[in-house]
Amino acid sequence: MEFELTRQNFPALIVLDEVDSTNDELLRRFGAGGLADFSVVTTMNQTAGHGRLDRGWITPVGKGLATSVYIRFESIVDNSRLRHQVGWVSLLAGFAMVRAINPFLKSVDLKAFLKWPNDVLVDGKKICGVLGRVLDDNSGLIVGAGLNLTSEKSDLPFSTSTSLAQLGVTGNSIELADEVLLRYLLELRDGISRLAGSNSDDVASLKSEISETCATLGERVRVQNPDGTEDLARAQALDDSGGLVVRLDSGLKSKVISAGDIVHLRYE
Ligand code: BTN
Repeated sequence: MEFELTRQNFPALIVLDEVDSTNDELLRRFGAGGLADFSVVTTMNQTAGHGRLDRGWITPVGKGLATSVYIRFESIVDNSRLRHQVGWVSLLAGFAMVRAINPFLKSVDLKAFLKWPNDVLVDGKKICGVLGRVLDDNSGLIVGAGLNLTSEKSDLPFSTSTSLAQLGVTGNSIELADEVLLRYLLELRDGISRLAGSNSDDVASLKSEISETCATLGERVRVQNPDGTEDLARAQALDDSGGLVVRLDSGLKSKVISAGDIVHLRYE
């Protein structure tokens, strides 16, 4: 497993034949002596991946890509703006994956979209999940993304999951992984430098590109709150911190969702 294309652009890329979780591996390496900004760990055999809200994430051997990136807050552009943009960084990771896989989906006349906060959907089905975590020392965050590449129907955990192969994209799994990873990392690095940069027009245009890619906006949604309660609502916009502004069915009030999950009612 060489990831030659990606390695040409990211020479410090760490490729593992097998690992429990790429997020955990980066955390361990961070604990063992720190990490350079934009350190990347990737594998096509992740045995105990974590998902959001304490769920797991399955990467069938050789058929999926699991990647984690360490992003220092005071990094690419030596300021601490990113520290205040954590919600947007995690949206950005999903957005970067949307941009990374769209060229492959073009051949089958499909497009990927973002589902708030950072799932990637194609045709209403989930193809990629993102899990971000701010480090305890508040120096930065680890953002992990899991992408289904050539998973077959029987490998996918839910009827609402999909893979590039299930959508008709052809190609060798390892080559697809290398090409998608390179595009993803380039998009992510570019987005981070726009988000952290001092040009406010650039930040605003990135946020509006992300909003345009977010299929949740305008949708009827069921909000699953962290306390177990649920609300029916219509999603309206992303707020300054990357939270989801919804208008509740139960009244005229708007509410900002910053934790929890949502379901797009049209796909239920
Ligand atoms: C979700 O949709 O619930 C998030 C899934 C995130 C999975 C990725 S795979 C790479 C990284 N390592 C992990 O243990 N989890 C993330």
